[in-house]
Amino acid sequence: MKAIIQEKYGSPDVLTLDDIEVPTPNEKEVLVRVRGASVHAGDWHLMRGTPFVIRLVFGGLFRPKVKVLGTDMAGEVEAIGSQVTQFQPGDAVFADLSTSGFGAFAEYVVVPETAIAPKPSNLNFEAAATVPVSGIAALQALRDQGQLQPGQQVLINGASGGVGSYAVQLAKAMGAEVTAVCSTSKLAMVRSLGADHLIDYRQEDPTQTGQQYDLIVDAAAYRSVTDYQPVLKPTGTYILVGGSSRQLFQTLLLSPWLTRRMHRSIKVLQSEPNRADLMELKRLIEAGQVKPEVDQSYPLSQVPQAIRQLEARQVKGKLAIVV
Ligand SMILES: NC(=O)c1ccc[n+]([C@@H]2O[C@H](COP(=O)([O-])OP(=O)(O)OC[C@H]3O[C@@H](n4cnc5c(N)ncnc54)[C@H](OP(=O)(O)O)[C@@H]3O)[C@@H](O)[C@H]2O)c1
Repeated sequence: MKAIIQEKYGSPDVLTLDDIEVPTPNEKEVLVRVRGASVHAGDWHLMRGTPFVIRLVFGGLFRPKVKVLGTDMAGEVEAIGSQVTQFQPGDAVFADLSTSGFGAFAEYVVVPETAIAPKPSNLNFEAAATVPVSGIAALQALRDQGQLQPGQQVLINGASGGVGSYAVQLAKAMGAEVTAVCSTSKLAMVRSLGADHLIDYRQEDPTQTGQQYDLIVDAAAYRSVTDYQPVLKPTGTYILVGGSSRQLFQTLLLSPWLTRRMHRSIKVLQSEPNRADLMELKRLIEAGQVKPEVDQSYPLSQVPQAIRQLEARQVKGKLAIVV
């Protein structure tokens, strides 16, 4: 089968289209014929091996252990292991492969039965493949860590990206009043997602608006969390989803101290893929409350170009890969 292979860490130039063996599922796994994938920030972190801790977590101190990247996947079940009970060949499924070995940038992937869910019926495979990682992160930040309630005010920083584009729509579906922060050229797209208020961070500092929010979801943490104190209600919660490694590790380490110092709840999201949340996203998508914002699609052979575009911050919403 064709797959995008990575033998060393580095820029997108280290990714090559190659032929490898089709994997064989064990008794509890399914073999999926991949029809769609997508790229997200985690893919280029794994590709580059940065921050260094990622090498310790996923193995491969000097050379990547994960040879076929790709976390977001949608496809058709091709074959099932002898103990698989919930899926049949031909079923359309989608999954977040971040805890099951990656491998979506290939024509076939083997996945534990527990990691997959039926694909939203109103999406094609490439659109469905943009949902799992970003959708689950947004859902878990708003619902689980943020405990967002109808009528509350939420600020979403990084609203034009993968996580942000789902977070804006999910927060609206939960009945919140949404203020979205992004750059000038992406304002129209974010408005179309249903944001009530927009802040162009190139024109206005979102921490100096005089407004206060019940919840801040920060998918673009490139400044200190303490900057947000003036715009976070005393009962409010700040959740760091992603951004610079420095802010991430600093906030992770200091969150108990920051919570005491700022008298506000400061948290770092570590999203966990699971079928229940994939089913919840499928429900919201089929009900028309959430839809993937797919900027552009690339064929499998052009995964390196897709990752380059993502790293250059030239994506509105998500990029899809057609396999
Ligand atoms: N904690 C978790 O479990 C978890 C799960 C999924 C993802 N993540 C992380 O969450 C982060 C966002 O992921 P994503 O997939 O949404 O990424 P993405 O699609 O690349 O979007 C990045 C967003 O950040 C904004 N941004 C980038 N640099 C910025 C800067 N210097 N100042 C202000 N805004 C900036 C971009 O806005 P403009 O383009 O408009 O400038 C865009 O909205 C990544 O770091 C990712 O690794 C974490």
